Amino acid sequence: MISIRTIDKLPLKSGSRVFYRVDYNVPLEGTKITDATRIEETLPTIKLLRERGAALVVASHLGRPKGKRDPKYSLKPVLKQLSQLVGADVQWADDCIGPETEKKASQLGPGALLLVENLRFHEGEEENDRAFAEELKKLADFYVNDAFGASHRAHASIDALPRLYSKRNIAGGLLMAKELQFLQKVTHVSDRPFVALLGGAKIAGKIEPLEALVKTADAVLIGGGMANTFLAADGVNMGRSLVDRESMEVARRIASSGSRAQIILPLDLVIADSLDSPTKIRTVDVTGGVGAEEMALDIGPKTIQRFSGELKSAKTIFWNGPMGVFEKEQFAKGTVAMTRAVAEANATTIVGGGESVEAVKKSGFADRITHISTGGGASLEFISGAKLPGVEVLRK
Ligand code: 3PG
Ligand code: MG
Repeated sequence: MISIRTIDKLPLKSGSRVFYRVDYNVPLEGTKITDATRIEETLPTIKLLRERGAALVVASHLGRPKGKRDPKYSLKPVLKQLSQLVGADVQWADDCIGPETEKKASQLGPGALLLVENLRFHEGEEENDRAFAEELKKLADFYVNDAFGASHRAHASIDALPRLYSKRNIAGGLLMAKELQFLQKVTHVSDRPFVALLGGAKIAGKIEPLEALVKTADAVLIGGGMANTFLAADGVNMGRSLVDRESMEVARRIASSGSRAQIILPLDLVIADSLDSPTKIRTVDVTGGVGAEEMALDIGPKTIQRFSGELKSAKTIFWNGPMGVFEKEQFAKGTVAMTRAVAEANATTIVGGGESVEAVKKSGFADRITHISTGGGASLEFISGAKLPGVEVLRK
């Protein structure tokens, strides 16, 4: 098990300055934040640090501006929302480093907050550059990381920066601790049966987590585009369905590896002649295959029943990836049904990754899930057993 240094161990005094690395890489429509979960989830840490008299220099990346200042990726839209959620004034710095920002940081009183502009406006961030980290370090005497969602990146604010501090002055925040606590219920399962439900468009990028899960889970239920590839690898005619041809060999290997988990594929599929303007939608058993001009867009009712049955008897559930094109109502049934089944299961339920989180939130069942990870790629890498740079540096 991984245990990290926690904020209660930091020798903070009133007015101590903390560099607070968060993952405020939130979805935006223009300057409107469409989902503020990643901000909300940091509030407990902010509250605790402020209660202890700390002043916070809050830093994050947003998008992938590739080392250049780009207004499209400004963190400015986060400023107002953060201030509202915290219920206090939050100051702004136009750059995450430099004399002006250092001055603003040095003037922060106990409990004050300063949000600094996108870390990725500097090349040094993604390059894990030590000189850039030295500049960041000038802003604070302590370092706290709650950016679990970015902790699989060996970037300066995640990796090089905490290494510049003495170990006693760095810690993981409450969100980081919570993520690790729950995701370790997947890597170190104690309550069985453990059922993993996997979907989403592609296999690529999910091979490692899949390989880990077939070794630890009792059953792995596969739906969505991922299932198409497994079915195609099994010789099922998939017509024009999205199939990740390059991963077919891997799918074949995983399916025949004699792993611990029983791999359960769809029994039936909802198929159509077109995604955008379907004229004919029908349900077919996989044994018959998909017509040459048709494509699989959701799991069918028999599959829903089979998967729901497995989830019902589970004691631990991990879910990543939708079961079909759930953005379209006609093809959302499978994903919605799985959301319900996961929510109703008498189990520890953990949802990781962007789209499945969206599905859970849309369905209104979010409060019945034990843990919804704020990390997409990070949660998948973590359950694969990979060492995350941002976590490793915080270990006791
Ligand atoms: C995410 O949204 O997955 C994290 O914020 C990491 O972002 P990245 O994939 O651009 O590194
Ligand atoms: Mg990402």
